[in-house]
Amino acid sequence: MQQRVADPVTVGEAAAILRGGGICAFATETVYGLGADAADADAVLAVYKAKARPRFNPLIVHCADFAMAERLVEFSPLARRLAVLWPGPLTLVLKAKPGDHVCDIAAAGLDTLAVRVPRHPQARALIEAVGRPLVAPSANPSGRLSPTTADHVRDAFEGRVPVLDGGPCAAGLESTILAVLDDGDGRAVQLRAGALPRAGITARTGVPVALPDADAPATAPGMLKSHYAPRARLRLNAEAPREGEAFLDFGAGDGGAGDARLDLSPSGDLREAARNLFSHLAALDAAGPKTIAVAPIPDTGLGEAINDRLRRAAAR
Ligand code: TXA
Ligand code: MG
Repeated sequence: MQQRVADPVTVGEAAAILRGGGICAFATETVYGLGADAADADAVLAVYKAKARPRFNPLIVHCADFAMAERLVEFSPLARRLAVLWPGPLTLVLKAKPGDHVCDIAAAGLDTLAVRVPRHPQARALIEAVGRPLVAPSANPSGRLSPTTADHVRDAFEGRVPVLDGGPCAAGLESTILAVLDDGDGRAVQLRAGALPRAGITARTGVPVALPDADAPATAPGMLKSHYAPRARLRLNAEAPREGEAFLDFGAGDGGAGDARLDLSPSGDLREAARNLFSHLAALDAAGPKTIAVAPIPDTGLGEAINDRLRRAAAR
């Protein structure tokens, strides 16, 4: 096994790694990302390799502010209205502008680009210190649970990837991804449910958010049926665990915790459940159960994204 690398302690140290063509994980408000200079094809390739990520799956480009994003993509009036939610857990897929800010492999050969401005102050400080946009896919090996703490990242990569510790992630679920490519119909299309629920986006911007047609190819290339998976199998919508199963409960009052049993939110709060989803799954998985039974989660608001992740984690 390769040696453990030293972690950067300050934003300046992490920025130096990234400016020097290295890769470094950092916290965002959603999940930890594995960062690299978006313009540096070798560094971006190292990100794909570290994650064992298929090359057809493009990366999200993270910007310090709207002005940085505007150098990379075309903002239609509709996209501009959605961008008022930045900084925040929203990714917009827009038409790429010509230029050399983002290398071709980051976009996996598409003529669109997924961009977001994260809210986590340390993430923005890091992008500012590097002075260039950063690609940052979730800092997990492809297909596995997403990391919401620095320790999750260290465990997942066995210490081979440097991590700037920014504390536990506040949202705990990846950003919501919207495609805004056809301004004609005045709506955005949700490619991935995420930390910003659709209804909230519409309430705050007035922009209707449609779901992709079931038969349309308009979905994020990375939304594979099986993803976000622990080692254990998942059994969803379980009212109670069976003999030998670990149990991920929801809304059980104070009765949720115990051996091989964790509650996503004893009070039944979906924000708390989202924040705990990946870390509770990782904690239950660490004991090596064959199966984790998961209590039903309401499918409203943030529950849409939570159930999306659970369905993919259960698919094999
Ligand atoms: O919250 C997040 O979005 C986190 C943090 C680190 O920012 N990042 C993240 O990245 O979730 P990743 O690589 O795990 O997921 C990116 C998703 C993939 O499903 C990918 O296919 C999609 O974004 N994507 C990237 N570029 C795209 C494009 N041009 N068109 C459609 N989907 C795109
Ligand atoms: Mg991911």
